[in-house]
Amino acid sequence: MSNDGVNAGRRRFLVAATSVVGAAGAVGAAVPFVGSWLPSAKAKAAGAPVKVNISKVEAGQQIIAEWRGQPVFIVRRTEEILANLPKIHDRMADPESKASVQPTYVDPVSRSIKPEILVLVGICTHLGCSPSFRPEVAPADLGAEWVGGYFCPCHGSRYDLAGRVYKAQPAPINLPVPPYSYETDDVIIVGVDQEKA
Ligand code: FES
Repeated sequence: MSNDGVNAGRRRFLVAATSVVGAAGAVGAAVPFVGSWLPSAKAKAAGAPVKVNISKVEAGQQIIAEWRGQPVFIVRRTEEILANLPKIHDRMADPESKASVQPTYVDPVSRSIKPEILVLVGICTHLGCSPSFRPEVAPADLGAEWVGGYFCPCHGSRYDLAGRVYKAQPAPINLPVPPYSYETDDVIIVGVDQEKA
């Protein structure tokens, strides 16, 4: 693979502004992000947790925050999305995340604290591109069996809407779930464990 492919993938983010803990402000609407994905000086210096306001994320939508220089995908899942997860269990390489990275306090299948809110590190576990959010069902380019998920543009790895990788993909394991917690129903803190919040 070429570096160009990786860089192209890394530029595909739509990011929402985030606020470092302690600073004023909250996440607004998602805004386009142009440029290479480099950790901000602030994030690099502290690895600081970030607060993300999820109150305006509608069902079926994703916003992207930044934590430690990495994109963090936050999705409000619909009942239909959640109902599909067990149906595709057998098509997953690591359906209960036994070999994947996630905190012990998230459910092994939905991979979240609250079922409807999914939080993932948006970096492909193959070679580090950022997968595209493809929530639609059976789009022409992904096939009739596609029930919504993530598609990595670099080498084609496919993940479901819990970040679980399908079998026989270049990516070996699921998208990581970062440590996170709820400050309130509407505010997530990425980088602080639920148990310690
Ligand atoms: S980086 Fe290779 S499939 Fe995602």
